[in-house]
Amino acid sequence: MVNVNTLVIGAGAAGLMCGATAAKRGLSVVVLDHAKQAGKKILISGGGRCNFTNMYTSPENFLSQNPHFCKSALSRYTQWDFVAMVDKHNIPWHEKTLGQLFCDDSAKDIVRMLMQECSSAGAKVQLRTEVFSVQHENGAYFVKTSQGEFSCKNLVVACGGLSMPKLGATPFGYKLGEQFGHSIVPVRAGLVPFTLHDTDKEAFAELSGVASDVVASNDRASFREAMLFTHRGLSGPAMLQISSFWQPGETVAVNLLPNENALALLQEAKAEQPRSGLISIFSKYLPKRMVQVLAKYGHWPTKNLADLSNTEIERVANNLTAWPIKPNGTEGYRTAEVTIGGVNVNEVSSKTMESKLQPGLFFIGEVLDVTGWLGGYNFQWAWSSGWVCGESV
Ligand code: FDA
Repeated sequence: MVNVNTLVIGAGAAGLMCGATAAKRGLSVVVLDHAKQAGKKILISGGGRCNFTNMYTSPENFLSQNPHFCKSALSRYTQWDFVAMVDKHNIPWHEKTLGQLFCDDSAKDIVRMLMQECSSAGAKVQLRTEVFSVQHENGAYFVKTSQGEFSCKNLVVACGGLSMPKLGATPFGYKLGEQFGHSIVPVRAGLVPFTLHDTDKEAFAELSGVASDVVASNDRASFREAMLFTHRGLSGPAMLQISSFWQPGETVAVNLLPNENALALLQEAKAEQPRSGLISIFSKYLPKRMVQVLAKYGHWPTKNLADLSNTEIERVANNLTAWPIKPNGTEGYRTAEVTIGGVNVNEVSSKTMESKLQPGLFFIGEVLDVTGWLGGYNFQWAWSSGWVCGESV
């Protein structure tokens, strides 16, 4: 049996950060993962360039049943602390948009950096090791794995969520939480494309690949970013963002003309170009194909502007500024970037990430009920929660 001070389950973003931080304090640390590669999600993130943090990270960018929980960790290990580590390793980076920081070259740089931080501090990262079961006796944890048994004083659960099972996601973290009495806030896919009902899917099929700057809103949130029509439904950052705030059966309002006042624009056009039609007016602002499809879908009148009543003008303007779209569902965990919900944070210390129910048991990263917006926030949560845990074990 291998005995260590701290055993971390999961060599993803949070687990590697925690392992390196704890080992720097002189503790014996092993980080286990069943995958054959560490940080698989980091490697494919941000289109292979890893959107590793966001300059404007603040607690408002996170969803949780307890929105206060993330505050302490985010303030103790900030986005700038992570940028300092990236700089220390001479990894070139840039801001893409909206404060999102990406590697110039490759996400591999981030995984290499975390592995170096682990090895130089003396934390061992052991891959291809599946954890079967955990027992707690006389103040120690006994962990059975495919590579033998481990015992430890501190057990850190960094198993992530359910998104992208192909990359090794499992419900193990939630099960372990439940084994030790924790409640799990119901989980669902977040930052995920919407699927559409058959009639809508057919109507918009020919727009597959067309993107447009929009504001997507519901009662709880509003995001101004790009929307993308796909062959199955709607994607792009605006849709991914609002998906995290969406419940089945609800409608999302999409403003397709966020830079214009559609009503004023139509009234002006009616006075100045009375012989024009709606499609030609809006084709100046949106891809023509898209306007044609929207016109057909929204049953816009085909008359000249001069012949449109005020009610008709208002209806079309409203159609473009609050286009109501009712998704059929989402693409689910197969393509979701994150899992919303997870280990109930009210049963975990926000200062240390230690269970309030079970001494020596810690939860970090996505397995907790803390979910960031799109834009580098989820990795920042992994770094911040991993770091405070590494400092506390
Ligand atoms: P993470 O999932 O990284 O790690 C968990 C680890 O536990 C995995 O290595 C897994 O193999 C291991 N594991 C699970 N069960 C186990 C078991 N039973 N035994 C042993 N090991 C086990 N975020 C962001 O901020 N910027 C971005 O650019 C992106 N991009 C992105 C793209 C895609 C396609 C996805 C799917 C996700 C993103 N994200 C993102 C989200 C981000 O990847 C995610 O929030 C973090 O990786 C979460 O870090 P964790 O360490 O908590 O889990």
